[in-house]
Amino acid sequence: HGLMRAAIRRQVRGGNPDAQLLLDPVMQADPFPHYERIRASYPFAPGAFARLTVHHDVSTAVLRSDDFGVTNPTSVVPGPARFALALAGPPRNPGPIEPPSMLAVDAPDHPRYRKLVSRAFTAKRVAALRERTAAVAGELLDDMDRAARDGDGHTVDLVAHYASLLPVTVISEMLGVPTSMRDQFLAWGDGAATSLDMGLSRRAHASMERNLAALNDWMREHLRRLRREPGDDLLSNIVGQTDDDGTGLTEQELVSTALLVLAAGFETTVNLIGNGTAQLFAHPEQRERLAAEPDLWPNAVDEILRFDPPVERTARRARVDTEVAGQAIPAGGLAVTVLAGANRDPRVFDDPGVFDVARANAKEHLAFSSGPHFCLGAQLARMEGEVALRALFERHPRLAPAGAGTRRPTRILRGYAALPVRLAPAV
Ligand code: HEM
Repeated sequence: HGLMRAAIRRQVRGGNPDAQLLLDPVMQADPFPHYERIRASYPFAPGAFARLTVHHDVSTAVLRSDDFGVTNPTSVVPGPARFALALAGPPRNPGPIEPPSMLAVDAPDHPRYRKLVSRAFTAKRVAALRERTAAVAGELLDDMDRAARDGDGHTVDLVAHYASLLPVTVISEMLGVPTSMRDQFLAWGDGAATSLDMGLSRRAHASMERNLAALNDWMREHLRRLRREPGDDLLSNIVGQTDDDGTGLTEQELVSTALLVLAAGFETTVNLIGNGTAQLFAHPEQRERLAAEPDLWPNAVDEILRFDPPVERTARRARVDTEVAGQAIPAGGLAVTVLAGANRDPRVFDDPGVFDVARANAKEHLAFSSGPHFCLGAQLARMEGEVALRALFERHPRLAPAGAGTRRPTRILRGYAALPVRLAPAV
């Protein structure tokens, strides 16, 4: 890991654009000017160990192409460090984004894993959860009012009291894991979220490993319980699909599928709610428009996803010698698709830097990726975002920021760790 860090630092000092993207803290707060600087490099901005694109058509082509496969964290480590990692052996506890998680494997394994859980995420199944999600939002808003009263009377952290709790509660109920565990999941998930990023310090890496181990252990034990006493929930259903003679899914395949759905269910939508609140604070005229025309809320959620996406970028590796937008890519070549950059491509979105809740083609954003790995939870996330944000702004029409907010220390996941708000501004 030390080698990898040193390699990336050298790249940053040398002014390499993709390395800066990986490590520069300035990029965390506002990467968009950087994307505009490199927009003229079409189709890719050249990089030292990856080519990177901020273009909508190029990103879509890469994400949909059979010539490209998914990457996993160890496969994006530069040469010498990869060798060191290989010597250390595979990690003991695969994270939700390492094989055998569906996010990190290609066909034929990918459709096999995805099919296990996909039925639970159709538009119809999600619509049936809307009422319960609204009830959860209402309960959390009551709790948040109480927390404010117990504090200074009006200031609370929106992330701790609302944005983080709503998605974890909904996904826990869907999966049938105890909601009493939600604070523990959030803590473990927070510690493990950095597993998406490169260039971690040794301490951060050790902490990530500890958190991943705790998540794996808990889920392995939980699935064993369900095998003995199945319930009427999604996880009992997938556990029922293994057979004892070992020809079905392995225990680790089941644990990874369950952990991915759990973690994807709460690590991203929290950012949608936080980023959405921050954008509505920053654009009061858009907020007024939503108050006057509440039917715009679903579109507003897509505009938030376009303008300030919870997952900033993803990557694919060429499986064969191939070509994208006229540029040759050798087998093994890495292509970083910057979803947040593609979402501001002026060839797809008019005035892409303008936040417009009524934008006609907001849905064309790539915040949920594209191709075979298109977000399984997209409909659920949209529904949760809409219910959560609308309930919040309708309950508190005078909601206001109470400080700048703190960004999460993660790079691929883009959102707030804390966002202090004032429920009723003092007059
Ligand atoms: C995949 C974004 C919420 C479950 C993805 C990918 C993105 C994404 C970008 C694909 C990554 C790639 O192509 O490399 C988001 C955003 C969300 C969100 C922005 C919230 C606003 C959810 C929720 C769930 C979920 C609520 C479910 C419970 C998944 C799963 C995959 C995935 C299982 C893997 C799909 C596959 O590999 O086939 N998500 N997600 N996501 N997401 Fe989401």
